Amino acid sequence: MKKTILITGGAGFIGSHVVRLFVTKYPDYQIINLDALTYAGNLENLNDVADAQNYKFVKGDITDEKFIPHLFSTYQFDGVVHLAAESHVDRSITDPFAFIRTNVFGTCNLLNAAKEAWKGNMEGKRFYHVSTDEVYGALDFDGTFFTETTKYDPHSPYSASKASSDHFVRAYHDTYGLPVVISNCSNNYGANHFPEKLIPLSINNIKNNRPIPIYGKGENVRDWLWVNDHVRAIDTIFHNGKNGETYNIGGNNEWSNIDLIRALCDIMDRKLQREQGESAKLITFVKDRAGHDLRYAIDSTKLQRELGWKPSLQFEEGLEKTVDWYLANQTWMDNIINGDYQKYYEKQYLER
Ligand code: NAD
Ligand code: TYD
Repeated sequence: MKKTILITGGAGFIGSHVVRLFVTKYPDYQIINLDALTYAGNLENLNDVADAQNYKFVKGDITDEKFIPHLFSTYQFDGVVHLAAESHVDRSITDPFAFIRTNVFGTCNLLNAAKEAWKGNMEGKRFYHVSTDEVYGALDFDGTFFTETTKYDPHSPYSASKASSDHFVRAYHDTYGLPVVISNCSNNYGANHFPEKLIPLSINNIKNNRPIPIYGKGENVRDWLWVNDHVRAIDTIFHNGKNGETYNIGGNNEWSNIDLIRALCDIMDRKLQREQGESAKLITFVKDRAGHDLRYAIDSTKLQRELGWKPSLQFEEGLEKTVDWYLANQTWMDNIINGDYQKYYEKQYLER
């Protein structure tokens, strides 16, 4: 069936994998990728699909109150997969207002445009909001998990802004009948991850013999999921999820930061033909993150039972694949470090 789908934040880490899957798996869909190309947006992530017939990139900001309704009336979207966000906790500590603007106001601006565009005919429409497990706060080392009914208890400006956006998505469903779905996913890893985040930053530092900064004692636990498994879940939920529902997505794969980095150092020693233990010497404990959540762990039983999704990769295999991707794509990393990736828009869209 022909559909026109808006994907926001499609030049980012997860968004670029979502765009690729939708463009290649659904040739009948017209995919519009709306992205403001902030520091985190990189069109180089999408080189392989940039010229596809059913794909179009639009540079624009989700907070723009004139442009977003105009975009909805131009394209008559059947669905929205909303990923655009400020996504880095450390940046949210230094600049919380950027997170309020994009994650809260930007999401409301999209919700409102969808409500107005779909008024009187919501049949077959869908607004999918991609969110995070961080809205649930932090767990102790007590074997409990976040479920879809866990009370929201965000601690960082990032997680507070995502929690707020989730509330607005539900409010638009309950008040205006907007057909929404929400998913809350654990930490992703994989190709095209911006190198301010733990795994790509560490790979790059190990390769260049620079210190690997571990916050506090490295005891904080995250539940890591391969980005392609997250994207498969997004595809499943977008097409088969029930309106008004929330689905938790996770890898059932808990690692303390220090254990994860030690495992990564072992892989890097092998790949770079270093003596076993050499990369681990770069581990450096630094001042802890303010309000650092102790443990995240997702219970994804609902998604597995109701929609039949499950993670496909063991973490050790996924981490090895990820290291291989970064080592084979050094130019991608170099272009980010030297700032050239921000010229991609001009290269691809203004010079042709
Ligand atoms: P990212 O930072 O890599 O990418 C965000 C993208 O959004 C970038 O391309 C950026 O240019 C774009 N963007 C930012 N502000 C914008 C604006 N005002 N208008 C239009 N575009 C804008 O983020 P990511 O890691 O790919 O995360 C994508 C989504 O998934 C976010 O909503 C995030 O909260 C959620 N999420 C991420 C993770 C994770 O581990 N990375 C886990 C769960 C949920
Ligand atoms: P990050 O990749 O920023 O994801 P999030 O904060 O959304 O979980 O961080 C993952 C974990 O790694 C988190 O506990 C903070 C920690 N961390 C470090 O120890 N050192 C670093 O340099 C970074 C970026 C993160």
